[in-house]
Amino acid sequence: MKFFIDTAKVEDIKAANDMGIICGVTTNPSLIAKEGRDFNEVIKEITEIVDGPISGEVKATTTDAEGMIREGREIAKIHPNMVVKIPMTCEGLKAVKVLSKEGIKTNVTLIFSANQALLAARAGATYVSPFLGRLDDISTDGVELIRQIADMFAVAGIDTEIIAASVRHPMHVTQCALAGADIATVPFKVLEQMTHHPLTDAGIVKFQNDYKAVFGE
Ligand code: E4P
Repeated sequence: MKFFIDTAKVEDIKAANDMGIICGVTTNPSLIAKEGRDFNEVIKEITEIVDGPISGEVKATTTDAEGMIREGREIAKIHPNMVVKIPMTCEGLKAVKVLSKEGIKTNVTLIFSANQALLAARAGATYVSPFLGRLDDISTDGVELIRQIADMFAVAGIDTEIIAASVRHPMHVTQCALAGADIATVPFKVLEQMTHHPLTDAGIVKFQNDYKAVFGE
């Protein structure tokens, strides 16, 4: 399983990229709004940092296929790495069909069932984004959804990639990798949490103390 970072915060994207752990970025209207910056300006900066797929979503207020297609073409023009993120609706699927035929990569977002993922794949989506954390929030097993989609795609020979989204903690990451997600898009905080283990931290302190006791600072 590969990692994308799920944020529009440029400093966090730089930090994760410097660690060599991410190969793509996902954003959404809430993440862009959180930064309070112009969409095109932020996205351009991100394309200068990460050389990999960067998902930029059509405007949250655009709900018709024509509007999404128009905006999708503009997003795709920003950089060859751009992926157009489109919500899972009937109009969204129409937009995915047209954009994918034009060779524009798409990421169908707000996936909460295996059937939605299958429809998105059949419309031509490059990626589907099942939101596991939001399912867990309503007492439904989000990781089980990832497993179902992975099984379904394997049975049908579908090459649409599964991006496990709405990842909330390190255990989600392990579970998604085992469930067959191709990619997990992970907030910086969770990536950082994943680097730690109490025995690693204690081991570093012990090595330092043992070294200093004999050789000094
Ligand atoms: C995915 O592409 C979304 O940006 C994101 O993972 C949503 O996560 P949230 O449920 O924590 O907002």
